[in-house]
Amino acid sequence: MPSLNLIYGCLVMCGIVGYVGKKQAKPILVNSLTKLEYRGYDSCGIAVQGSGIKVYKDVVRVQELEQVLPRLSGTLGIGHTRWATHGEPSLINAHPHLDCSGKIAVVHNGVISNSPRLREQLTSEGHNFVSVTDTEVIPHLIEKYYQGNLENAVEAALLDVEGSYAIIVLMAGEPKLVVARKDCPLIIGIGDGENFVASDVPAILDYTNRVIYLEDGDIAAISKDSVEITRSKIRVDRQEHRILWSREDVQKASYEHFMLKEIHEQPRVIRDSLGECVLSTEPLIDLGLTLDMNLEDLLIIACGTSYHAGLIGKCVIEELLGIPVRVELASEFNHCRQTTGATTAIAITQSGETADVLKAMKSLRQTGIRTLVITNVPGSTASRLADQTVYTRAGPEVGVAATKTFIAQLMALYQLALSHVRVNRRIGERLSVELRQLPAKVQEVLDNEYQIINCARYLSRYDDVFFIGRGINFPVALEGALKLKEISYIHAEGCAAGELKHGPFALLNWDTPVIAIVAHDNTYGAMLTSIKEVKARGSPVIALAGEADEAIEELADLVVRVPYVSAIFSPVVNAVVVQLLAYHTARCRGCPIDFPRNLAKSVTVE
Ligand code: F6R
Repeated sequence: MPSLNLIYGCLVMCGIVGYVGKKQAKPILVNSLTKLEYRGYDSCGIAVQGSGIKVYKDVVRVQELEQVLPRLSGTLGIGHTRWATHGEPSLINAHPHLDCSGKIAVVHNGVISNSPRLREQLTSEGHNFVSVTDTEVIPHLIEKYYQGNLENAVEAALLDVEGSYAIIVLMAGEPKLVVARKDCPLIIGIGDGENFVASDVPAILDYTNRVIYLEDGDIAAISKDSVEITRSKIRVDRQEHRILWSREDVQKASYEHFMLKEIHEQPRVIRDSLGECVLSTEPLIDLGLTLDMNLEDLLIIACGTSYHAGLIGKCVIEELLGIPVRVELASEFNHCRQTTGATTAIAITQSGETADVLKAMKSLRQTGIRTLVITNVPGSTASRLADQTVYTRAGPEVGVAATKTFIAQLMALYQLALSHVRVNRRIGERLSVELRQLPAKVQEVLDNEYQIINCARYLSRYDDVFFIGRGINFPVALEGALKLKEISYIHAEGCAAGELKHGPFALLNWDTPVIAIVAHDNTYGAMLTSIKEVKARGSPVIALAGEADEAIEELADLVVRVPYVSAIFSPVVNAVVVQLLAYHTARCRGCPIDFPRNLAKSVTVE
């Protein structure tokens, strides 16, 4: 029995693509791979079927591989960007991998957990392995079982395999690709006289917006004119979906980085999240987002930035709905807190593929707890596991650091709370009106970006930074610290302002700036006291404060003015400020902002 750890070991940071059609495969594969570069990778490769299978791969960027590729003629091919797990990044370990005859080529995302045993067995049967990857057992197994029918051989091979996979198989002489998935995403893009396969939608958006999401256990044979999906040799139909994302969504346009573009898209994201409601001038409670579940108490599970959205959601829901909300890091929940008294759970995951979240969702399902997921990716694994899905309207997010998806998650949580508001209907109506003004408020923050750039220049000289906040803005402090550390590599900590005196004070001095998020709510007085305490220890203070706050000028070294909004919405404007602060600080330090080291867009390992 494989451990769950290995079942979820699918490294979706790898990207896989496939093409079958009338056009030359090489440029399409190369272009599609470049669209997956944002996931992070260390090597890449393609295989094209011409007279036989030709494989080109190396430890290079996709553009570098393209430069050394010869003229390759062939209208069927597969490609891969690899993020090394089993075996170092090397030409030999890069995908595609071949069988002994060199006729079967495979690209794979995931982890084959029983590969050592399979490799031993296949070696004893005469198969020669050249790499140390787990993937290489797959072409050899297919070779072993091949008796004239590729789909049957793939199916037989996968019966021997334990672990997770999304694979594309290309065989010399076969006018089709055979693909399969288990616990890793895989989509088929439908074209006109051509079809595409990819691990992720951005890879195919240049060619089609018609997709089929495969289910775990599906095997599909894809030729230029047909897609035949089977399970245990029985034909199944899978619905075709239209992707609303456009190819412009995955281009940088005139922005220097995807992260900056995505931060600047946030007024649009908020407007899209509110849909028609934003145009109306009537107060409204019913924003059309209702839970078809019992709302007595809630459990929210998430990781990273999505966890911070969950913490803000807790404040909002508890205030407006008067019900208790527990927020858990999915990774901790899985190991320590399997028992839960909650009747309903909300999973928040922009990618819908985070292994820790998926594992928590499965265990909640086993205990009979209904789960709603808030996710940005249509057809993602989380949306299949959930009883109900709320899709956020951020559009594809390419920058590794989550920005617009975070704001979209907050919008979903606000809408959810306002749709079920119980505590005071009039307050709910007032807030619903104000919610519609948020795009303009966020635009104001963006229009005043210069004040944040000034602070970022100042901050970029330091190695340690604290973010402090209170109440509903404490999670914004956590998020500010996470953003800063992940893209600028400055050590940053988010701290509840009142907790400074319980330990972190020891670290404060002239060399440790503190960024204070000052909200104009019932925490205001306490926050000013915290800032005075910080100043007394010599730390420079950058404050985020309202336009009319005069008292702050006396206390802080630098002030970023934020537009006035009700306290409950203050995390939205403050989050945009800390995103920009992290972005510009990282830019001053010359960091690779869209591809921070060691990080990937979807974290599909526990
Ligand atoms: C930080 C960031 C990560 C993700 C986390 C969860 O900028 O992006 O912390 O928020 O890995 O990812 P999702 O939301 O896809 O479950």
